[in-house]
Amino acid sequence: MEFRDAVIKRRMVRNFSDRPIEPEKIDRIIELTRHAPSAGFTQGQSFVVVTQLELKKAIAKTCEEEEYVKSGFDPFISKAPVLLIPCANEAAYHRRYQEKDKVNEDGTEIVWPVPYWFMDIGCAVMIALLAAVDEGLGAAFAGSKDLDALRKLLNIPAEVTPVGVIGIGYRAQDVPSPSLKRGRKPDAEYLHREKW
Ligand SMILES: Cc1cc2nc3c(=O)[nH]c(=O)nc-3n(C[C@H](O)[C@H](O)[C@H](O)COP(=O)(O)O)c2cc1C
Repeated sequence: MEFRDAVIKRRMVRNFSDRPIEPEKIDRIIELTRHAPSAGFTQGQSFVVVTQLELKKAIAKTCEEEEYVKSGFDPFISKAPVLLIPCANEAAYHRRYQEKDKVNEDGTEIVWPVPYWFMDIGCAVMIALLAAVDEGLGAAFAGSKDLDALRKLLNIPAEVTPVGVIGIGYRAQDVPSPSLKRGRKPDAEYLHREKW
């Protein structure tokens, strides 16, 4: 698939068919996410892949899936054949930026202009979402409301932050998000040439 087509075709898909995903598709998606950039090549990103139904149901609870269902969506988290949990590790960045080539001359750590750990996992998530399209699949990112519960369910270390949940599967008819009614904001508000 052309890159442009994958980008344009991608949307958050909030319903999946029961058709299982070929495991090699997930392997290829994850493999591509490893090409995401990271500050100082810290590689603070990681993913947990979940396929067990009971685990998926428990994860869906941390996303308050029942609220989605109440408002007319399908149970797109528990029903997804595969869940990917993208994780960021802030502590890994602090450790990396204490290394000789990154630490300030006076031994102090840089002042972080923005939390690069979240920037980096965002880059990896975007690759995963596009790679899913390239594999003929749909995917949706949803936030979890209880990161500690998610950590506990998946044995995620305390210093690692699961930033949410990505459901992946073959697309089924879904309910579009009401947020889409907002429409795309005008180009003039988005793009500022030379100066804002
Ligand atoms: C950081 C982030 C958090 C999001 N959280 C949720 C969420 O909790 N639940 C949900 O259904 N969609 C969530 N979305 C999806 C957005 O609603 C969606 O990307 C947006 O409406 C545009 O639709 P599209 O991605 O299909 O083009 C999230 C997207 C991002 C980037």
